[in-house]
Amino acid sequence: MRGAYGMDKLSAARAVIDRIDAEMARLFEHRMTAAAEIAAWKQANGRPVRDSAREREVLDRNSARISDPVLRTHYTAFLEGLMAESRLYQQSLLHPELLWVRAASGAYPIYLCSGALREAGDVLELDRTVFIVTDKGVPASYADALAAQCRRAVVHTVPQGEGSKAPAVLETLLEAMLRAGMTRSDCVAAVGGGVVGDLAGLAASLYMRGIDFYNVPTTLLSMVDSSVGGKTAVNLGGVKNAVGTFWQPKAVLIDPDVLKTLSARHVSNGLAEALKMAVTHDPALFARFENSAGYGPVEDLIAACLRMKRAVVEADERERGLRRVLNFGHTLGHGLEAAAEGRLLHGECVALGMLPMCTPGVRARIIPVLERYGLPVRANFDVDTAMRAISHDKKSSDGLIEIVTVPELGRFAFQRVTLSELRERLLMCIEEQR
Ligand code: GLY
Repeated sequence: MRGAYGMDKLSAARAVIDRIDAEMARLFEHRMTAAAEIAAWKQANGRPVRDSAREREVLDRNSARISDPVLRTHYTAFLEGLMAESRLYQQSLLHPELLWVRAASGAYPIYLCSGALREAGDVLELDRTVFIVTDKGVPASYADALAAQCRRAVVHTVPQGEGSKAPAVLETLLEAMLRAGMTRSDCVAAVGGGVVGDLAGLAASLYMRGIDFYNVPTTLLSMVDSSVGGKTAVNLGGVKNAVGTFWQPKAVLIDPDVLKTLSARHVSNGLAEALKMAVTHDPALFARFENSAGYGPVEDLIAACLRMKRAVVEADERERGLRRVLNFGHTLGHGLEAAAEGRLLHGECVALGMLPMCTPGVRARIIPVLERYGLPVRANFDVDTAMRAISHDKKSSDGLIEIVTVPELGRFAFQRVTLSELRERLLMCIEEQR
């Protein structure tokens, strides 16, 4: 009897919720239609989508309508989520060209457009103090172009190169942010390559327990890969990326025009990460690299890579599963990077590190592409030094190291191998290509 009575109550409560959900869906459409009208007005009047003061007022006014204190907390969170969705909707209406990444921790846009740097203020919230991190190798005019659009900008320039991914440099950065009087509502923007992005992103994630972060990549490598996905890190004790966080950017702004000042070697360095995506995911993209006329417009290449990266990050933000595929070429690559002691760039090591992970047929197709784009297919380095770095790699557990292998173009597999098997692969690669 009691069971039946309980079921009646359950059905009745579910019916109430169904009716309310139907009503809420109708109201949601109404609310978003009004939001779209507000967005159009804001665009016509040159006002930003976000109006923090108005949002606070709406939150306070509506939360006060809920008398139960526990429910009020839940309602406030619900309303905050609703307002965040409304902002995203307004931005996607105003900028249909934006590529949205819907990661588990939140959504953010990638603005990929020639001239984007000059229009940063349209997409990023710069009406606050913006701590811009750049390095000595990046033309100062890029950071200056962003700074000119901020209410207040502090430009912090670190030395160029992997050496800046160090705790001491991070500390200097955080101290400079404190000195600049940065508050929780201010933000950090990285203007540079992967090193600057990793360092600045980590600083943003730590400062006052985390503030907004914008990534403005200026190298091809960071455009096609590292600027998206929220990985931040510094190296520690000789171990690459030993200390870091997942801290998604609020937005990524990519202006391919800045590649005009990038050296041919650094363009190739970025192409290695694009090839990584093509080899594991997209045979048609790989075929573009095989084309003797070249791979086509760089903007299309960046967009193709970012679509793949987005799909991976959306499926697995924290690298618990699928995202491990992005380590293709990196296990040996990190070892090679350590052994090369600065002689080889990151992408060059990744290019080399991919080869032993492929079947001979795939390798035979990749080698001519690497050669065409000036990427190494052989290198002289101390194998013991490389293996020592690999055995410290964070992917190591129970004496086994996970690698990503490619049995055929566009397919990949995860394999766990011993260090001696890995050494064989490293040696096999060198000997085969000598
Ligand atoms: N660059 C590899 C990743 O984002 O997971």
